[in-house]
Order: sequence, then structure tokens, then C-alpha cells
Amino acid sequence: MDEISVLSPATVANVVCGFDCLGFALGEPCDEMTVRKIAEREIRIINHDDFGLPTEPDRNVAGVALSAFVDAAGLDHGFEVESTKKIMPGSGIGSSAASACGVVVAANMLTGDRFTNVELVELAMAGEALASGSRHADNLAPCIFGGFTLVRSTEPLDIVEIDFPPLYATIIHPQIEIKTSDARAMLPKEVPLRNAIRNWSNLGALVAALSTGDFALIARSLEDAIVEPVRKSLIPGFDEVKAACLDAGALGGGISGSGPSVFMLSRTNEVAKRVGEAMSRVFEQTKIGHKIHVSPIQRSGVRPAV
Ligand code: HSE
Repeated sequence: MDEISVLSPATVANVVCGFDCLGFALGEPCDEMTVRKIAEREIRIINHDDFGLPTEPDRNVAGVALSAFVDAAGLDHGFEVESTKKIMPGSGIGSSAASACGVVVAANMLTGDRFTNVELVELAMAGEALASGSRHADNLAPCIFGGFTLVRSTEPLDIVEIDFPPLYATIIHPQIEIKTSDARAMLPKEVPLRNAIRNWSNLGALVAALSTGDFALIARSLEDAIVEPVRKSLIPGFDEVKAACLDAGALGGGISGSGPSVFMLSRTNEVAKRVGEAMSRVFEQTKIGHKIHVSPIQRSGVRPAV
């Protein structure tokens, strides 16, 4: 096999109380990528979208991740990538992670599956670092593993897959730009112990609740005392959107990754759609354009396109 096309899913990082460690994969949207072997030991990038992303491999997230793959595998050939991004860069639903993960999983499939999923996350981290200036893996891990994952440590990389009941996510993507690097720079360097206690209590409870399917506990645990209170000022109407979603039946939610997208979790697709309508109603008042995605949480990560 010299060529493969894959779907690389959007992901939600942080999941309110799990800053930089918890994440989950969405069924939609997915980037579409075709990766093919080429004889030359180089990386070529072809973009089939209007986002104006760089095509120089050392300035492109997929290019950097793929270069790391070629080096780690000691290959004597390179790859060409054709990328159609459906996940808008800067949306807060793991656009750069999808680019980095899609190419390393595809390259692995083309070269005999030599790397484990954990090793692929490690290689994709090079691409994520280019995009955000920081080596976090909370979007990468669910993008490759699917479902809910917890990154217990990045050095060395230690990823925990978390069982979960059927859940539906609603995402609102307001058409404003928030740079991950800016959203990280505004965070406090130190946090009061009482806030740390609150967050690790919620994170432990959330993981337990996901594993046992305790929806009431999932709802109570989706609370963040550290990051959301600071970052929510970047998202006009955040408190109103959240209140409207809870009224519409959502279990809870918050900022997706570093924003500007906001996500909510619901027990059924019907409630998730109703939550999307509630989000739209609030955002129509802000006069900021927005997109809504409703999707089940996806149990598989990057997968071959059929
Ligand atoms: N955990 C990261 C953050 C996700 O919130 O900054 C964004 O890449």
C-alpha cells in the first residue's frame, strides 16, 4: 500500500476540570487527509482548503509531525500529504491536533504499523508544539485513541483511556479568533490550594462518573475553579450560553480547549440538538456569527476514510 486516506477527528480538550490532561473525540467534524509515499526523502504538503495554512513542511503542523515520524522510523523515503481541513484553525476543537495525528497515523499504516498509539502521540506532539508553543497532548491523545483519554504525564508520556456511557456533544464555534498562546499566557502561574483541591476533586469524580455512567455526578463534576474564571472573559456571552444550555437539559460543559468554542454534554442526541438551538438563540443577540456542531462522542480516533 502506497497511499491511504484518513479521517482525523475534532477533539475537545480540558473538559472543564481537566486542564491540559483530559479530552474526548468527536464524530464530526473530521479533517480529510491523503498520505502517499514518495521516493524522495522529503515532505510535500498540498492544501485543498481556503485557510491559507503554510505548505513549507517546517512551518506546517502536519509537516513537522511527519518529519518527526520519518526521523524516528529511519525511513529512506518521504511522504506527500493532501489535506482538506474541515476543522477550522483556531476554533478550539483540536484543528492542529487533527493535522498532526492524521498524518502520523496514516504514515504508520503505510509503513507496517511500527509505532504504538502512545508513540504516535509523542511524534504528533512536535506538530502541536509548533501550533501552540507548548507540548501538551490533551487533544492529541483522544484524536489518536478515540473516546475519553487522560494524559497522566507528558514526560514520559502516560495515557489513560477512560470508559464512558453514550454521550452527545454540542459545540458552538463563535467566529472570533483566540490564539492558544494568548489564552495560555493569561493563566495564573500559581493557584490557591483551595482551587487546586476543588479541581482535582472534580476531575477524580468526573473520571469515576464517566466510568460508571453516573450522569448526575458527571453534571456536578463539570466545574472549574482555575481556568474558566479567567478565560471566559474572552468569549462574549459565555455565562448566558452556559445558563441557557443547562436550562435546555445539558449535563454541563464549558470552554472547549482554549476557546473560542464552547461545548456541552448531553445524554441524548435530541437534547444535544435542543442545546444547540439554545446556544444559537443567545449568540444571535451578540451579533457574532457562529457554527453549531452536534456529535456523539466518538469511540475511535483517526480512521481510514471509506
Ligand atoms: N489544554 C490546552 C489549553 C488546549 O487549554 O491551552 C488547547 O490546545
